[in-house]
Amino acid sequence: MRQKGNAGLGKKLLYPPVSTNKRNGVEMAKVKIGVNGYGVIGKRVADAVALQDDMELVGISDVVADWRVKMAQRKGYTVYCSVSDPKQIETMKQAGVNVAGTLEGLLRNGALDVVVDCAPGGFGVKSKETLYDKYGAKAIFEGGEKHEIAGLSFVCQCNYNEALEKAEKGNKYCRVVSCNTTAGCRIFHALYSNFKVPKARMFLVRRATDPVKGDSKGIMNTVVPSRLPSHHAPDVKTVIHDAIPDLYSAAVMGSHTMYHFHLYDITLGQEVTREDVVNALKNEPRICFVNTKDGVMGLGAIIEISRDMGLPRGDIYTIPVWEDFITVIGKKEVLIAAACPNENNVVPENVDAIRALTRIETDWKKSLEKTDKALRVPKTLY
Ligand SMILES: NC(=O)c1ccc[n+]([C@@H]2O[C@H](COP(=O)([O-])OP(=O)(O)OC[C@H]3O[C@@H](n4cnc5c(N)ncnc54)[C@H](O)[C@@H]3O)[C@@H](O)[C@H]2O)c1
Repeated sequence: MRQKGNAGLGKKLLYPPVSTNKRNGVEMAKVKIGVNGYGVIGKRVADAVALQDDMELVGISDVVADWRVKMAQRKGYTVYCSVSDPKQIETMKQAGVNVAGTLEGLLRNGALDVVVDCAPGGFGVKSKETLYDKYGAKAIFEGGEKHEIAGLSFVCQCNYNEALEKAEKGNKYCRVVSCNTTAGCRIFHALYSNFKVPKARMFLVRRATDPVKGDSKGIMNTVVPSRLPSHHAPDVKTVIHDAIPDLYSAAVMGSHTMYHFHLYDITLGQEVTREDVVNALKNEPRICFVNTKDGVMGLGAIIEISRDMGLPRGDIYTIPVWEDFITVIGKKEVLIAAACPNENNVVPENVDAIRALTRIETDWKKSLEKTDKALRVPKTLY
């Protein structure tokens, strides 16, 4: 398979990689990770890191002491305060959280190799200025931050090697793109790594808000278009660069709370059969198939299947594509329908981004396979 973004690595290592638990059979220290912001994404990333045998979750940090942070404590995670304000620390303690210290204290003491910053969009850029730059820490940001925060936007199968190359040159930052961008990148990668793809259009029906935020946010009984074209295609380009030169997206917000829904209209620069496209998607990591003939008529069935899989929180990490909807028109135009499990599909990318940034694994496939094994990312759902 042609690997555009994951091709050819430089040989000269300016910065030596962080030691892992086992390299060349020798027991080494694990990469020490802090997760800042214990919300929808942060709590999942913390659990995913805790499952890796080459990483150690030092602790999580947040600014509140609500049920989520108390559950982190109950799980045995050490809790830190994201800010160094004594009043904030005292408020958290008064609310019943055993605050072990501050994120700044951890960074000052060199207790962390990487911070995964899962605070709401916009907070990461502030912490970069006040903490990560100051203490020379490596940090991974999420899709709510702009590309410029790291100058490197990441999806494992698309550009792990770009992340490695930049890390070799001393880059300390990486941005794991949003759930929608991650899903789009995986689907586009399946096509552009197998066929010429001059043009693609991406249409999204976004969930209004996350289930946990539905108590105070969201829309009801309506559909709201985003500004057209939407920001998703430009965001995909921060990862796949010029792999698809003519790429646009359009999005509407629906009034549901779980999963985004995607439609793709992709124009190829060569003739293909439907079977060619099915095989390309079947062989792509972190994509799986569902079928209407099996009764999977929409997101409702996928949500139920996700729960039935028995994975934590119903997280499946992978992108379900309707196999029997894959359509080829006139041998060159491909239509695809997919579901995007927005609360969890970026979680494996965070684990892989840690390995790329610290260069404890220099083969993207090995990192991906290791992550997927630890998280039990399914290739088939039923
Ligand atoms: N929710 C999703 O579906 C989703 C999917 C992919 C990417 N993302 C991105 O992930 C990031 C986090 O989103 P989320 O949905 O998990 O947010 P969230 O609101 O669920 O969680 C954010 C957490 O950060 C904490 N926080 C607030 N201010 C903080 C600060 N100054 N320092 C540290 N922590 C602070 C909050 O208390 C909360 O626990 C955003 O960039 C978002 O765009 C979200």
